[in-house]
Amino acid sequence: MSEPSAQQVLKQALKASQIWWQDMGVEATVLPPAPKPKITATRKAPAQTAQKETPAAPDISAQMIKAAEQAKAAPTLDALKTVLENFDAGVLSDHARNTVFARGNPDADIMVIGEAPGRQEDESGKPFVGPAGQLLDKMFAAIDLGADDLYITNVCNWRPPGNRNPNEEELAMCAPFITRHMELIAPKLVVIVGGVSLQALTGKTGIMKTRGQWQELDIANQKTPALPLYHPAFLLRRPELKKDAWRDLLAIRERLSGL
Ligand code: URA
Repeated sequence: MSEPSAQQVLKQALKASQIWWQDMGVEATVLPPAPKPKITATRKAPAQTAQKETPAAPDISAQMIKAAEQAKAAPTLDALKTVLENFDAGVLSDHARNTVFARGNPDADIMVIGEAPGRQEDESGKPFVGPAGQLLDKMFAAIDLGADDLYITNVCNWRPPGNRNPNEEELAMCAPFITRHMELIAPKLVVIVGGVSLQALTGKTGIMKTRGQWQELDIANQKTPALPLYHPAFLLRRPELKKDAWRDLLAIRERLSGL
């Protein structure tokens, strides 16, 4: 086996120290990411005058192109999962412990799409397994929908560092993956969980005013109904809004009976 490069060693050390800090309960990113080589760059040779080299920013537009090409070419769910697991998503995949793909029944009529993994999801590699996920399961159980009735994933498959929301560029990079994911599942109904997913899937902002209003997603040329819901993490902080969520769940139940 060949010797790891200095950059690989640095990357491993960075990841190990981050895991240690996370185990200690520290959320923030404590070290800067290892500088990444620009992916497509053809750069001029540096001038001979000894100026200090600044590390190149990761070329996210190149990653976006790669994401689009690779997602489109994935013929099955397993293939898409493998593509994601091997994808260099820059800061996102550098900082994540696991790629979080999906849980549930791929043949379910309902696809539930959240925002991005949190700590427990990052550790387990499964979406919505922490406190928010437990509430989400209870919400669906209240309208008689269990694990077999749902297929659950996120618009972003890696936990962003420090538990922040994925930014616009990251969401744009992840978009081809969730698009292909929806095509492969071909759900009859989508539940959009939270404002970040609302924006990523519909371009709309403002979950407070949009929740409970039916949207239409174009999934492989099929017009698919989609209902935005408050994120369960938000409901844990604002339990007085659960009555709105209950109305939205009843709307899902009713829509399903007509499908
Ligand atoms: N929040 C999300 O949006 N997705 C998860 O998987 C966990 C928490």
